[in-house]
Amino acid sequence: MHKGALALFGALMMPVTALAGAGDVSVERGLQVSITGGCNDCHTAGYNESGGKIDPAKALAGTAIGWQGPWGTTYPVNLRLAIKDMTEDGFVKYAKTFTAKPPMPYFNVHAMDESDLRSLYRYIKSLGDPGPAMPAALPPGVEPKTPFYVAAPPQMPKG
Ligand code: HEC
Repeated sequence: MHKGALALFGALMMPVTALAGAGDVSVERGLQVSITGGCNDCHTAGYNESGGKIDPAKALAGTAIGWQGPWGTTYPVNLRLAIKDMTEDGFVKYAKTFTAKPPMPYFNVHAMDESDLRSLYRYIKSLGDPGPAMPAALPPGVEPKTPFYVAAPPQMPKG
């Protein structure tokens, strides 16, 4: 095979995420950021159980399995709904400043590049119908009506 044709063949065989690069602002890069940023781990139902397959109907639409610890019980929210009424600029500001209860690693989101946050926004917006909200967080001492993980670390993040 001709060398150039080989290179093109190689490029076509790459998964779409490999074509998005740091600094790009695109839906493809947003998908990649959601994977490497770990957002699907908690916010996409079935992701862990399937070995990292993203069901398009469930991508970032939240999970109804609670996380229980000293903070009460929290649920990985439906991110499609969470950003539904935000502009892209509004999302960037929000993503740089918001806080949330454990186990949400909001500090990791603060550290993302602005271009990656813009891509993430575009990716989430591309996912279509937001679907239903996840159960509301519960204060300590209230028993959840859903399945939940018990996460009771001996040390808690401060603040
Ligand atoms: C370890 C599980 C976990 C991971 C990983 C995770 N989240 Fe979360 N996330 C949660 C939980 C649980 C909540 C709800 C926290 C609460 O109720 O205060 C949450 C809340 C949020 C919220 C707040 C939404 C609102 O309306 O209050 C945003 C935004 C968010 N997550 C974005 C992300 C992004 C972006 C990523 C990837 C970089 C991510 N999350 C990764 C578990 C996780």
